[in-house]
Amino acid sequence: MALVTTKEMFDKAFRGKFAIGAFNINDMEIIQAITRGAKAYNSAVILQVSRSALNYAGAKYLKGMVDAAVDETGIDMALHLDHGPDFETAKYCIENGFTSVMFDGSHYEYEENVAKTKEVVEYAHSKGVVVEAELGKLAGVEDEVNVSAANATYTDPDQALDFVSRTGVDSLAIAIGTSHGAYKFKGEAKLDFDRLAVITEKLEASGFHGYPIVLHGASSVDPECVAICNKYGGKIDGAKGIPNEMLRKAASMAVCKINMDTDIRLAMTAALRRHFGEKPSSFDPRGYLGDARAFIEDMVKAKIADVLGSTDSML
Ligand code: G3H
Ligand code: 13P
Ligand code: ZN
Repeated sequence: MALVTTKEMFDKAFRGKFAIGAFNINDMEIIQAITRGAKAYNSAVILQVSRSALNYAGAKYLKGMVDAAVDETGIDMALHLDHGPDFETAKYCIENGFTSVMFDGSHYEYEENVAKTKEVVEYAHSKGVVVEAELGKLAGVEDEVNVSAANATYTDPDQALDFVSRTGVDSLAIAIGTSHGAYKFKGEAKLDFDRLAVITEKLEASGFHGYPIVLHGASSVDPECVAICNKYGGKIDGAKGIPNEMLRKAASMAVCKINMDTDIRLAMTAALRRHFGEKPSSFDPRGYLGDARAFIEDMVKAKIADVLGSTDSML
């Protein structure tokens, strides 16, 4: 029993028209909640670690706890660096047992993104580790995304093909209208599915069959979860995520990895706020963190069964 790369899970996801959930981890309760939720449906899962999570918990603690989760559940699990900022961070994670790394060079000029991504790919592949990279810029909620803005910031299909061909990267995160955080849309939710389809057509036509696309900023920001936060003293106004039917559509297309962090944060916050609101005399961490863990586990199960479609993806 060991951690795996994303190769086989993405192959299955592409063929089966579903997606693998990639959830951000920061502590033991979150790791247990995600992996037990995935185990309940025999689903493969990706646990991802941002640079700030590395700073918060430390690679060795996170790897140790993830190894324990592999032993406990026996499910296919990848440990992934999320938004790796540079070669050194990717190398550090690979040295510490990660099976997948993202190098995010989306803020660099195109040629610099190609060169830096290629450097990470060459090193990672020599160690049997897979690489995700990003092309295009995720929208911010303040951004007015009209057609010319979309062309300037969303992933260009010809460039996507050139990028994949030249870097040898194993999966590509694209910009089609999602954004990070809890405030994704001011008005109606809108994603550029036509662009996603064209990117896939160009890749297929050039021999990249079943090439896995990654969707960042894909939390759905469940209104019920936000309502619990607000009922118990929170102030999260105007939050809006990606509707579940859009995530299902993306999963049925070439999107094989769907990234969610904000939903985990909101679930944890809702459970903790409710716990303290209803039990003001509680001060045992196993009580409130246990409630948070159970709430996150239920949310992960619902994602797998109702949105990602990755149930029994290990079989
Ligand atoms: O995409 C970013 C993730 O939500 C990680 O956020 O850097 O605050 O850990 P973080
Ligand atoms: P959300 O903020 O929508 O959860 O996106 C998380 C993400 O993309 C992590 O890389
Ligand atoms: Zn992201």
